[in-house]
Amino acid sequence: MQNAATAIRVQDRLALPPMKRPEIRAELDRLSLRYPFPQSEWKRLTRREWILDYAKPGRRSIGAEIGVFRGHFSECICEVLRPRKLYLVDPWTLIGPTFNWGKLDYTNNDELPTAVARDEAILRCAQFPKVDTVVVEGAFPACKDQIAEPLDWVYLDASHSYQKTLNELFALDALVAPSGTILGDDWQINPTGKHHGVFAAVQEFVRQSDWRIVAAGPAGQWALRRYTEA
Ligand SMILES: C[S@@+](CC[C@H](N)C(=O)[O-])C[C@H]1O[C@@H](n2cnc3c(N)ncnc32)[C@H](O)[C@@H]1O
Repeated sequence: MQNAATAIRVQDRLALPPMKRPEIRAELDRLSLRYPFPQSEWKRLTRREWILDYAKPGRRSIGAEIGVFRGHFSECICEVLRPRKLYLVDPWTLIGPTFNWGKLDYTNNDELPTAVARDEAILRCAQFPKVDTVVVEGAFPACKDQIAEPLDWVYLDASHSYQKTLNELFALDALVAPSGTILGDDWQINPTGKHHGVFAAVQEFVRQSDWRIVAAGPAGQWALRRYTEA
């Protein structure tokens, strides 16, 4: 029997009924009122955008965000990169009715339904009709076969634990095009940091592969590219 963590639902492009841009904005405003997104995270969004400069291959790209939540950064990705295709990968409702991360502002004290987070992410991207958005409701890397072509870039913001992040990075090695980039969030050097596992996994990954750190800086952002001898 398939368990919830490995079950995968691939939606055939955007699964919500077509809506005009003002309707989308009104619905997003309603969701922001009903499920407030922490002010600190709103502020961090623009501080994170600098890392997307490392994902500009000079043409309309194909990329993925692994770990999407409500799609606030997916919207930044669409706005800044205008990719040709964007895979949104997250287990959402396969986790359960809510995220079950305890009493956090980020999940509105666990009141935010996973289905609402997924549909909000889809709506955020629906504001960019030229971006072909493919929604993969599944846990990465179990769902990796649903990504059908080499990726120019990936933004990794998913499990955050050391071993799972290391597994995610090795799976991405096979999915990202030779000149592609892996980007991510939550670069925490301090060993007591909640997401230090991401930093530690990246260090181990570059030790064991031909990937190298090309950027790490403000707002916990980082980027990797493959090392090639000149
Ligand atoms: C910090 S949130 C992502 C935030 C989002 N990238 C943003 O910047 O707005 C982490 C997300 O990762 C998802 N996640 C956890 N494990 C995952 C996995 N194995 N594969 C894909 N997504 C995962 C969670 O469901 C959650 O929505």
